[in-house]
Amino acid sequence: MKKVYIETYGCQMNVNDTEVIFAILAADGWERTEDMSQANLLMANTCSIRDNAEQRIWGRIEVFNQQRKSRPGVLVGIVGCMAERLKDKLLDTRKVDLVVGPDAYRSLPKLLSAITPDNPQIDVLLSRDETYADITPVRTDKNGISAFISIMRGCNNVCSYCVVPYTRGAERSRDPHSIVREACDVFGKGYKEVTLLGQNVDSYLWKDETQTVNFARLLEMVAAVSPELRVRFATSHPKDISDEVIETMAAHPNICRHIHLPVQSGSTRLLEKMRRKYTREWYLERVAKIRSVMPDCGLTTDVIAGFCSETLEDHADTLSLMDQVGFDWAFMFAYSDRPGTLANRTMVDDVPADEKNRRLNEIIELQNRKSLERYRAQIGKKVRVLVEGPSKRDPSQLCGRASNNMMCVFPARDLRKGDYADVTVVDCTSATLICE
Ligand code: 5AD
Ligand code: SF4
Repeated sequence: MKKVYIETYGCQMNVNDTEVIFAILAADGWERTEDMSQANLLMANTCSIRDNAEQRIWGRIEVFNQQRKSRPGVLVGIVGCMAERLKDKLLDTRKVDLVVGPDAYRSLPKLLSAITPDNPQIDVLLSRDETYADITPVRTDKNGISAFISIMRGCNNVCSYCVVPYTRGAERSRDPHSIVREACDVFGKGYKEVTLLGQNVDSYLWKDETQTVNFARLLEMVAAVSPELRVRFATSHPKDISDEVIETMAAHPNICRHIHLPVQSGSTRLLEKMRRKYTREWYLERVAKIRSVMPDCGLTTDVIAGFCSETLEDHADTLSLMDQVGFDWAFMFAYSDRPGTLANRTMVDDVPADEKNRRLNEIIELQNRKSLERYRAQIGKKVRVLVEGPSKRDPSQLCGRASNNMMCVFPARDLRKGDYADVTVVDCTSATLICE
């Protein structure tokens, strides 16, 4: 049997896409392997979000190409976000047999059968309607407890720093019934948690002859699958997260109390240059609303340091916003200029690299302190944890997440993965709650 090996880079959306690719290839007679040396086809599902993500992939192409040289007949494919952006460069290297973009995975079997040594195959066309709604992903998670479900693809925001609208195309929502069916299917297979994925879930919208379903309604529909099934989602956009969504979360105990709400910058001037379409005050108001309705809601964010023209004052605004909000956790990045984006075409990447890193380090240091504060504030509280399995650090302990997404560790007792455990927080680090 033909065997395929896939490495996945970038976001959770890409992990889910890899599962769709496995499903498409399985129907074409391919078996999945985790051992590169056994594979007839080696693929990387790639990410373009920052330059260092792309640099890593070039290194992997070298490794794949060594396999290709030492084992004649082995094929190498590059799929995902780098495909469209770098198709010519990829094919010029002659180290790649296949280049396929995020909307063209259905054509993989046809493309694979057409490859010859002198004929690499390529399909990077983006689609207005592809959502892979009818394809049941081959789950690649290791624990069998938590599944990811794509509810939409692409992105219609044009944040000036971001390459995603170019690599993944226009936004389109998936049929809600196919989403609910997939949630029922994984629940039937023993999964206890689904995470609904989209670049901007708040703009999810499905309309057909009989109904209009927005994101709040979709959340309700998925939450109704079973009270035993936890529902999470990502990513929310501060300009779009509605009171209706916040209130729907509050009304359903199985919708987890966690919102990932990327702020990017605390300076209104910079937010405007980033084309985020909200101000610092708007963001703070949304946080206040979330906390007034769900005081226990976990909040995480993304922050970019050193975007074009960022002054020390803008940077101080970011630090003060982070200080004021007190996020549980943040993903923090130095700005990386991406070819083709609005910022790349119309602005100057003028904060020197060492200054970007200095600001980033200040941001990280502040966040580490805030995380510790946020985790400490949980001590003494009772939380319900979905058991994921043994803790990595200490296999005699179990681990799992609280509703607010904080990782918890606690003694195993007679609990098994997939159980819900009611525990009390007794201690913490800045990333883990230690519970009993
Ligand atoms: N440079 C640095 N970080 C970026 N992000 C997106 N584009 C860039 C870029 N060009 C970050 C944003 C986004 C997260 C997924 O990646 O913070 O929310
Ligand atoms: Fe995901 Fe964006 Fe990276 Fe594409 S570029 S894999 S959408 S993070």
